[in-house]
Amino acid sequence: MGRSKLAVIGAGMVGGTTAQRLAERQLGDVVLTDIVEGMPQGKALDMMEAAPVEGYDANITGTSDIADIAGADLVVIAAGLARKPGMSRDDLLQKNAKIVGGLADAVAEHAPDAIVIVVTNPLDVMTHLVYERTGFDSRKVMGMAGVLDSARFRTFIAMELGVSVKDVHAMVLGGHGDSMVPLPRYSTVSGISITELMPAHRIDALVERTRKGGAEIVGLLKQGSAYYAPSASVACMAESIIRDQKRLLPAAVRLDGQYGLTDVFAGVPVKLGSGGVEEIIQLELTDAELDALHGSVEQVKELVAKIT
Ligand code: NAI
Ligand code: 2OP
Repeated sequence: MGRSKLAVIGAGMVGGTTAQRLAERQLGDVVLTDIVEGMPQGKALDMMEAAPVEGYDANITGTSDIADIAGADLVVIAAGLARKPGMSRDDLLQKNAKIVGGLADAVAEHAPDAIVIVVTNPLDVMTHLVYERTGFDSRKVMGMAGVLDSARFRTFIAMELGVSVKDVHAMVLGGHGDSMVPLPRYSTVSGISITELMPAHRIDALVERTRKGGAEIVGLLKQGSAYYAPSASVACMAESIIRDQKRLLPAAVRLDGQYGLTDVFAGVPVKLGSGGVEEIIQLELTDAELDALHGSVEQVKELVAKIT
């Protein structure tokens, strides 16, 4: 059996580090593509030269020809503009819609059997756009945000309690924006809900920090946005798909009646395996949690309407 072919479109900070993580996890051969000539080739060669030291067997190819994604099993779309300080995710909407819409057409043409993970912001809207433009089955198109947002929540919980991140699990639903819905009730340390481990006002503070987690990094970096945790999150989803691990992870997927929502992409827990989104998990939510999820999704719908 040959290796899987993994295409990463957009060789910037997220795309480049994603390619590195996919290679280091030996998930397959990686094609890294960007409109900038030379840069994807340079990053790919640099990663090939790291292979003997790190000890991974993966061919990493850099290219500026999108047709080189041909036959990919998995495509990551991380092309587009990143947020600058003071710029909201939604400011990116029109420019990134143009880029991502064109790339979705290219994926449908060159990699019609691929499973697609969208990263470009605004995430839920771009994922919807890729679903519409590729015409792919909804199980094969998903957005990465929930793994990142819940990783941030997990980090803050571990820091607050002084415990290992390994024992901390968390769940964040909704759109990848300030209205995302972290769920303290479903966030645990070794199975114990954090609602039993810290006072409500500290949980509220961590929830707020999670909601603004992307902006916190943007503010510190001064240029560009986060990429270490985002690329780790993409690699985690990719690994569950390529190795058919069937992990339960939050991802932006198309809802078709679940949570009382239809024809919209939003972050919910899903089972990820070789078939892509193999199951959407329906959690029991309180009225307040459900209201927050619907409110978050409403914002996504408004943005989708602006680009269609
Ligand atoms: P970056 O600016 O470092 O890289 C973007 C790359 O896309 C550039 O190299 C650019 O040349 C390339 N590009 C533009 N148009 C292209 C096209 N038509 N075909 C191929 N490549 C093209 O930005 P970065 O930091 O890598 O972020 C990429 C995107 O991911 C941004 O939209 C950012 O907001 C988003 N993001 C989303 C996250 C999430 O949780 N979903 C987390 C982090 C970033
Ligand atoms: C983040 O959350 C920019 O969406 C990106 O870091």
